[in-house]
Parts: sequence; C-alpha cells; structure tokens
Amino acid sequence: MVDLTVTLGDKLVLQNPILTASGTFGYGDEVPELVDVNQLGGLVTKSITRHPREGHPPPRIAETSAGMLNAIGLANIGVERFCNEKLPYLAELSTAAIVSIAGSSFEEYQEVMKIIEGRQPRIMGYEINISCPNVHDGGMEFGVSTYMTEELTRHLRELTARFLIVKLSPNVTAISDIAKAAEQGGADAISAINTVVGMGVDPRTGTFQLSTGIGGLSGPAIKPIALAAVYKVAQAVTIPVIGIGGIMTVGDVVAFVRAGAHAVQIGTANFRDPGIGIRLISELGSFLEELGVSRLSEIRGSAH
Ligand SMILES: Cc1cc2nc3c(=O)[nH]c(=O)nc-3n(C[C@H](O)[C@H](O)[C@H](O)COP(=O)(O)O)c2cc1C
Repeated sequence: MVDLTVTLGDKLVLQNPILTASGTFGYGDEVPELVDVNQLGGLVTKSITRHPREGHPPPRIAETSAGMLNAIGLANIGVERFCNEKLPYLAELSTAAIVSIAGSSFEEYQEVMKIIEGRQPRIMGYEINISCPNVHDGGMEFGVSTYMTEELTRHLRELTARFLIVKLSPNVTAISDIAKAAEQGGADAISAINTVVGMGVDPRTGTFQLSTGIGGLSGPAIKPIALAAVYKVAQAVTIPVIGIGGIMTVGDVVAFVRAGAHAVQIGTANFRDPGIGIRLISELGSFLEELGVSRLSEIRGSAH
C-alpha cells in the first residue's frame, strides 16, 4: 500500500501532495459538484488584496502553443468580502485551505494578514505571492530582491503562527538566493514557480494578445523552467519546496518530487479539467506502486 501523506516541516501534514494553485481554482467554492475538493492535499485561494480589484481589461487570457498567457492583474474581491463570504466555506473543508495574499506595499500584505488573523479563521496557512510590484519602490517586484523578500517574510512571520509559504517568481537572476532570503525571514516552505514573463503578438495586425502587452506564461511550456527552479531551491534551503509549473500528468508530479518537491500545485491544467487534481491523486498511487515505492520520501530529490 502506498502512503501518499506528506509532512511539510513539523507543522503541516497533507493527506496527499496534490494542491491546486492560486488563481486557477477560484476560492475553491466554484468548482463543479463532481469535484470533491476535500480529496485534494490542499487548495490555495486566489490572491487576496486589501481592497477589491477589477484587474486588467480584456483580453487578459490568451492561448499559446504549449500553455497560456494571462494578465488577470490580481482581480479579487478584497479581504473584507473574502472574510465574510469565503472564510466560512474554507472553514468547513477537511483539506488544507491556504490563503494567498498579495499586495503592493509591506503595509498592504500586513493589513490583509492582520484582518484575516483577526477572524481566527479555520485555515491551515498562507501563501505569499511576492510577484507583485512594490509601489514604494518604483514598481520593482518584491520577489526580485533578497532584501524585500526577507523583510516581507519577517514582517508576516510576526503576525501568524500558521504555516507560511513564500511563492517565488521565476523572473529573477538567482532564485536560490531569493529562496534563502524567504527561509531566513521565517518561511515554513517555498512554492515555485509563479508565471514566466511572456508576450504574444498577432502577426497580421500587430496587436498584443493581452491588453497589457506583456503578461505571465503558464502551462506545459514552463515545466522545464519550473523543474530547474525547484531543483535549485531544494538544494539551497532546508524547508520544504512545493513545485508548480506546467503539471499535467502523474509523470510530471513524480518528476517534481524527484527534483526535490515535497508537494505540487496544479494550475493551468484546472482550466481544461477542474477534476485533474483528484485524478492525479489516484494515478499517483498506482504509479508509485508500479515503481515499488511506498512513500514519496523514498524518491524525493532522487533526480541525478
Ligand atoms: C489565470 C491565472 C491566474 C493566476 N492567478 C494567480 C494569483 O492570483 N496568485 C498567484 O500567486 N499565482 C497566480 N497564478 C499563477 C499560478 O498559481 C501558477 O503559479 C502558474 O500558473 C504556474 O503553474 P501552471 O503552469 O500549472 O499554471 C495564476 C495563473 C493563471 C494561469
């Protein structure tokens, strides 16, 4: 019998390593009835900001040959509505509910977390989306600076005893240094990666495929980038790593574990099939059984 449970540090035990990625599964309450979210290892909500955001104008999604481009612009209902309308639902879940937080200043991230913590919510923890431009720093993303990453993590660490994940951007020179900064700041885990900077242009009209011109690429196209990032980060830190990027099959899940991931998140694949996470859980059991592996820790980091 294969044991799919994973222990992330000494704080969090997941029933299996398959989570859904932020922004690709709503708040977990909009999926078709056939999808039983409680079977997932966990779900990460859409990123929440202090105030509601409409996001960027359309088109904000475009297809590419091996994935998709998006420029959603962090559209979300804001923390107050989130607390009133979504937290009660998340509290009822038996799976690990992780709330993604975004902001454009240190203060915004802190305020959002304080407001949620003030509700004493029944959630497992937080994932901090640091791929956001910092308004006080000329729009430079938090996630490109070791200093900002460490400081932000430290500020948020002071506000919560819950599981704290810092989600890294791949659009940096040395992702391991950013991961180390998050660990230094007190993160319990790292998740990697967010979308890769990308752009699409209509060759006939010259128009951008996204209203913003440049956006974020996700899906199978970014899997090799994500695998390399997870591999590098897992070598650099002692806290667990959650792999994200282009996962479509059970083989992809296992490849991420072999690269060093404790767990994975499924993003773009949910748009094609919101039930994919649950299917991958059962496929993972069979895949590992075929390999003669009884728990994921036996193959974690075994890429060579
Ligand atoms: C439409 C869309 C919206 C997203 N929104 C968020 C978000 O709000 N916060 C966040 O941290 N990541 C967001 N992401 C990034 C995903 O969580 C994930 O890191 C990325 O898409 C790579 O995984 P994938 O290739 O499996 O999609 C979004 C991705 C997509 C495609």
